[in-house]
Amino acid sequence: MIPGLVIRPMSGADIPEILALETESPAWSGSQFAGEMSQTIGWQYVAASSALLGYICGRSVLDEAEIVKIAVKRDARRTGVATRLLVYSLEKVFQKGVRTCYLEVRSSNTAARSFYEKNDFVVTGVRKNYYVSPREDAVMMAKALG
Ligand SMILES: CC(C)(COP(=O)(O)OP(=O)(O)OC[C@H]1O[C@@H](n2cnc3c(N)ncnc32)[C@H](O)[C@@H]1OP(=O)(O)O)[C@@H](O)C(=O)NCCC(=O)NCCS
Repeated sequence: MIPGLVIRPMSGADIPEILALETESPAWSGSQFAGEMSQTIGWQYVAASSALLGYICGRSVLDEAEIVKIAVKRDARRTGVATRLLVYSLEKVFQKGVRTCYLEVRSSNTAARSFYEKNDFVVTGVRKNYYVSPREDAVMMAKALG
């Protein structure tokens, strides 16, 4: 638990701090985050205490949502930050009618897969060679909300 952690909507002013935390390969650019924020179907939240510690981006259409990005600052991991972001986001989209949330994750990303499983996502399939650099399968996961 991080004292004083709050979840709030992402703003353009957060982008420099977010880019400093982007560790995934390939990392998103500032314009990709700005693009997400300009989407009417998109939703984005950040977790912050004295500094920004994590962020989540997703999209919703009717009763379905998809998580397209979630990341936590390395030295703040395993303290529940991603769980707070996920629970908060899924409560928000549930209130707007979403009943199923989907995502894709690299098959080698054991931390993320464990995180999603702990949060009741189940594997629904595999997309062979979905990712490039390095080429890798995507594991598709879903969670029923409510
Ligand atoms: C995946 C990620 C977002 C998890 O963030 P986090 O804030 O560390 O997650 P939490 O602290 O909320 O973890 C909740 C639970 O998930 C599981 N979990 C999280 N990280 C784990 C790891 N490295 N190994 C095994 N289980 C893990 C554990 O069950 C954990 O509970 P516990 O700490 O009580 O054992 C983080 O590792 C990250 O930013 N990774 C890089 C970006 C990324 O891969 N994003 C996902 C792309 S699909």
